[in-house]
Amino acid sequence: MSDLEQAARLLARAQRIAVLTGAGVSAESGVPTFRGAGGFWGKYRPEDLATPEGFARDPNLVWNWYQARRRQLLQVQPNPAHYALARMERELPARVTIITQNIDGLHQRAGSKNVIAIHGDLMLTICTSCSFSRREEPPFEDGVPRCPNCGALLRPGVVWFGELLPERELQQALEESHNCDVMLVVGTSAQVYPAAGFPSAARAAGAAVIEVNPDPALGGIARYVFAQPAGQALPPLVDAAVALASGGQHSPG
Ligand code: OAD
Repeated sequence: MSDLEQAARLLARAQRIAVLTGAGVSAESGVPTFRGAGGFWGKYRPEDLATPEGFARDPNLVWNWYQARRRQLLQVQPNPAHYALARMERELPARVTIITQNIDGLHQRAGSKNVIAIHGDLMLTICTSCSFSRREEPPFEDGVPRCPNCGALLRPGVVWFGELLPERELQQALEESHNCDVMLVVGTSAQVYPAAGFPSAARAAGAAVIEVNPDPALGGIARYVFAQPAGQALPPLVDAAVALASGGQHSPG
């Protein structure tokens, strides 16, 4: 049996599937990744743009970068990888939960419902002082906005380096990692904790780990590795799993 058949069989039989995604799942939509060729952190310093200290030093620089990313998001669409994951949630018997490090909202736009966004949401603006928050609409203009309630600086509603993850999302992600039968890991370099630790936590708790990444990052943790772009690997994998789960025969090729 091919790896695709075996991995599809695991997905078809699972009761709980956790999907951990990173920037790579959105690469084929045209959203740059962080590391590697063409990645954000090859061009910019994360400490300038994605830390509380960088924001305190130069809020204008940080806001301009996030507003440019918001404008860029208006130009992109979910890709076949996002749609395949949404189909998995709809059509497999398992409860499917996506734990995403991405802030781009593309899983939700593709139709996924059960999404835990552990690094926040690019379209959210929050106050640095009070509990004010709002969802943004275009146009996304440059400049540093102030809180309409208390006058403090507003900031993007995302998690920066050196900050804690939102408690509820972190607990949910840990719970899913510890209790899934299968963890599907898609498009992450697994370098940023705590997310980078979820696959080994899942494996230690008895789950089978499947990795999709043209440049695999999990080493021996993964039982099956599909070293392909997510938009190529996921649609046939999900097709095969759905066919198996619905009792149909899947003929490869
Ligand atoms: P990275 O940029 O570190 O890694 C992206 C991964 O996607 C790499 O392993 C690539 O090989 C892989 N990849 C590239 N194209 C792909 C494709 N078409 N299909 C599948 N995989 C592909 O992104 P993350 O691991 O998500 O945090 O980075 C984690 C965190 O670090 C981000 O959430 C962000 C970043 O700094 C913050 O900003 C706090």
